[in-house]
Amino acid sequence: MLSDTHRQPDIEIAELIDRLPKVELHVHLEGTLEPELAFRLAARNGVALPFASVEEMRAAYHFTDLQSFLDVYYAACSVLVAREDFRELTRAYLARAHADRVRHVEPFFDPQTHTDRGIPIEAVIAGILDGLADGQREYGITSGLILSFLRHLPAEAASATLDAAEPWLDRIVAVGLDSSEVGFPPEPFAAIFARARALGLRSVAHAGEEGDASLVARTLDSLRVSRIDHGVRAATDPALMRRLAESGITLTACPNSNVRLRVFSTMEQSTIRTLLEAGVAVTINSDDPAYFGGYIGDNYRAVAAALALTSGDLYRLAANAINGSFATAERKRELLDELEGVVAPGRGR
Ligand code: ADE
Ligand code: ZN
Repeated sequence: MLSDTHRQPDIEIAELIDRLPKVELHVHLEGTLEPELAFRLAARNGVALPFASVEEMRAAYHFTDLQSFLDVYYAACSVLVAREDFRELTRAYLARAHADRVRHVEPFFDPQTHTDRGIPIEAVIAGILDGLADGQREYGITSGLILSFLRHLPAEAASATLDAAEPWLDRIVAVGLDSSEVGFPPEPFAAIFARARALGLRSVAHAGEEGDASLVARTLDSLRVSRIDHGVRAATDPALMRRLAESGITLTACPNSNVRLRVFSTMEQSTIRTLLEAGVAVTINSDDPAYFGGYIGDNYRAVAAALALTSGDLYRLAANAINGSFATAERKRELLDELEGVVAPGRGR
């Protein structure tokens, strides 16, 4: 564990973070696969993992960049085979999210990671939807599922994936774009994002994680998304920050991920404060919590400690997530009321 993800905020701020009703807008369900569950599923499905034990698997999580992480993340997905596996994965994440007071979540899943190994898309989507229904019943967590395309594969493959998902599109809220950013620009996906919009889906895309600020602007121009996942590199470009603030684009930042994948070498270098001060609707999320040493609450605590966040900042971050979600207006109002019962809007930043 890196020491900078271990710094603690002062006690009042830590207590406030515990009590905040949270909305998580950037979490990959495959990235919530904890080694304990991976080993259980490997045994059940007769799949071999390249680790002798849970401890050995966790100890191998040292990454030098995004690709070094993605190689491990895609390999671990081999244990996910049956509909029930996807349900268990989703349930385990929601149980953990509930402990952090997550009230609404819009998780990603990467169908191509599974269909390319011969898993029927029905097992993937139906299993995840089962798990999300369990989470709503057991914890009251509402959700909107995001089907994410892998940008290192051709746009035609993304298009075929959207076709294959057709029977479930009424239960999918948006499409997304993830995987390796550098070398895989957004423009080839413009037509498929336009098709998804025509089908009534919203859209989001990863940009400005390893790629620079210009990729955030190109993603907005070509894909016309309403949220940028990560986007933290936008802080190097004042004109772009003004554009983001004025157009109300939400950024889904993932602080522990950024330190683990060396986007920033320390949490103090996180650009979240700069973005908040520029009026950009930035939010805090966990990305791939099983790999990066913590869930959403840990991410809030790490940033609050490193950047000395105030209660006004925490209000802003939590409210940005509610307002930037694809929840109904009624659900957003409920969540804002709950938030305002915990922390006053204050002056914020
Ligand atoms: N897939 C899972 N985590 C990711 C990340 N941080 N960036 C891009 N693709 C991902
Ligand atoms: Zn991500």
